[in-house]
Amino acid sequence: MLTGADWWRKAVFYQVYPRSFYDSNGDGIGDLAGIIEKLDYLNDGTPGSLGIDAIWFSPFFKSPEYDFGYDVADYCEIDPRFGTLEDFDRLVAEAHRRGIRVILDLVVNHTSHEHPWFKESRSSRDNPKRDWYIWRDGVGPRRRPPNNWRNNFFGPAWTWDETTEQYYLHSFLPQQPDLNWFNPEVRRAIDQVIRFWLDRGADGFRLDVAHLYCKDEQLRSNPPFFRRDKVEQRMPFTDRTWMMNLFSLFSLPEFQVKKYNQHHPETHRVLKEFRKTLDEYPEKTSVGEILGEDPQVIASYYGSGNDELHMNFYFDLAHCRWKAGAFRRCVERWERLLPAEAWPAYTLSNHDIVRAISRLGGGKHGDERARLLAMLLLTLRGTPFIYYGEEIGMKEARLPRRLLQDPVGKKWYPFHRGRDGCRTPMQWSGGPGAGFTTGEPWLPVGPEVEKRNVAAQEKDPASLLNFYKKMTWLRKELPALLTGSYRSVTHGVPGDCYLFLRQSEEQKLLVALNFSSRRRELALPPQFLPARLLISTDQSRPAKTLHQSPALGPHEGCLLQIAGVEG
Ligand code: GLC
Ligand code: CA
Repeated sequence: MLTGADWWRKAVFYQVYPRSFYDSNGDGIGDLAGIIEKLDYLNDGTPGSLGIDAIWFSPFFKSPEYDFGYDVADYCEIDPRFGTLEDFDRLVAEAHRRGIRVILDLVVNHTSHEHPWFKESRSSRDNPKRDWYIWRDGVGPRRRPPNNWRNNFFGPAWTWDETTEQYYLHSFLPQQPDLNWFNPEVRRAIDQVIRFWLDRGADGFRLDVAHLYCKDEQLRSNPPFFRRDKVEQRMPFTDRTWMMNLFSLFSLPEFQVKKYNQHHPETHRVLKEFRKTLDEYPEKTSVGEILGEDPQVIASYYGSGNDELHMNFYFDLAHCRWKAGAFRRCVERWERLLPAEAWPAYTLSNHDIVRAISRLGGGKHGDERARLLAMLLLTLRGTPFIYYGEEIGMKEARLPRRLLQDPVGKKWYPFHRGRDGCRTPMQWSGGPGAGFTTGEPWLPVGPEVEKRNVAAQEKDPASLLNFYKKMTWLRKELPALLTGSYRSVTHGVPGDCYLFLRQSEEQKLLVALNFSSRRRELALPPQFLPARLLISTDQSRPAKTLHQSPALGPHEGCLLQIAGVEG
C-alpha cells in the first residue's frame, strides 16, 4: 500500500458506481459483496491486475434513490440493496489487504427528504431542527417563491410545503432539500458523520457539489444571464466539445448567473473545518467536485494549498474537443492557476458525463483515441481518476425513454437522455448480462459487449485493458511521473501533436501524443536525444533507444526517457 501523508499524490484512483459494478445475488443491482469479489481485478499486487491504489465509491448509503444515492436518508447506514455495515467493514479490510484505499462520497449539500432530520424539520415551524434546512415564507399575496433561484436539474429551487405553509430550498430535486450550513448544529452533525467513517477505516472523501454548501444569507435573486462577469480564463468556446457547448446553450433558458447560490466565502470556512478533522487522522485525503466556469474560482478551493481540499477535480479536461491544442491549453491553464502546493486531479469522465470514448470517439478512430487518452491521463502531473469501464473502452449506451431511470433524462428527453447511458453494468464478459448479474440488470448492457469486456480483453495482449495495466504498473516505477514537474514542449512540434516533459531529480520523461489520424514527424531538440522509448500506444512498437526524432503513427502516443538525467 502507498503510505505517507501524500500517498494520494502517487495513487491511481478508480471510480466505482456500486449499482453497476458487480451483482453478487442476482437481483440485477451491484452490491458490496460483489465489489469485494472483484477487488483482485483492480489490484492483486501483480501486473496482471489493473494496479489501482484507491477507489472512490459513489454513494451506497441508505437512500430512496430519487437521485441514485445522491439523496441520503441515513449517513451512517448502508442501503440494504448494497449490503450491511458488516459488508462495508469486510470491504475495507479486503481492499486494504490489497493495498487499495477506500474513498467515500460525502453528499452533504443536501439530504434526502426522507432523512429523519428533514422529517423533523418539516413537521412544524418550531421544531428544533427547523433551521437545519432553509425555510422561507412565500412573497406577496400570491405567496410566490422567495427568489428566482433555479435548481440544477430543472425548475425552481423552491418547493411549497403544505404542512407548515413555507417554501424549502433544494439545489437539485424537491426530494433533495438543502442543509443550512450556517447552522452550527448541522456542522457538528456532519463532522460526526465524517468521524464515523474515518473511525471505520475510510481513507477519505469525495465531496459532492461542495461549491453549493453556503448560499447568500439574504437570499438575493440572481442577476440575468447577460450580466455575467467576464472570465479571462474561461475555456474558449472553440476548445470545447460541441456537446458541451450545446449543453450550455440548453441551460440558457435558466437565464441567470448563479451569483448568489454558489461559491459563497463561508463554504471555504466549512472546508477548512473538514480539513482540520481529516488532519486529526493519519493519511486521509479529499477530492472536491467543484463546478464553475472560472478556473480561478475552482482553484481557490485548495485554500492556501494545504488547508482546504487535498484535490479538486478539473473538469475542463472532460470538456475538451479532440484537438491537441485544446488539451494542452487546458492543462497549461490549470498548471498556471494552481497555488504552488496544490496537486491536480484529472479525470476524463464520471457518472454524470457522456463516456469519453463516445464523446471524443470520432467513429472509427474511437479505440485509438481511447488509448491516447489513457496515456495522457496516466502521465500528466496530478492524480488520475479512471471511471469504471473506461479501461475496456465502454461506450455510452443510447437508451429508449421507457428504460430511463435518471430523473434528468426522464424530464429532458429527447434533448438530453440523462446520465443512464454512462452508468450501464460493468462488462465482465460477453455472456448474458455481461457477466455482471445472473438476473435482469437494472440498466441494459452497453454497446459492443462482445469485444468491450474484461474476459475478452484479458486474453488479447494488444487490448486497451492490457495497455492500461502496463501504464499503471510502469507509472509506479517512474518517479518523474509520480512527482516530477510538468512543462509543455512546442518547439518543432506539429500543431496536432501534444508534447510535454515530466522531470524529477532522477529522470526526465517526454510524453508525445499525436492527435491526428496521420503520421507525424517530430523535430526534437538535440538535447532530447538519444531517448529510450519506454512504451507506445502501438503495442507492436518495441521498447528501444532512439537516436533520431521519432515519427508518430496515427493517434500514436509515446513515453520516452531522455538520457543524461538518469540517477
Ligand atoms: C453531483 C453528483 C450527481 C448528483 C448531484 C446532486 O453532481 O455527481 O450525480 O446528481 O451532485 O447530488
Ligand atoms: Ca445485488
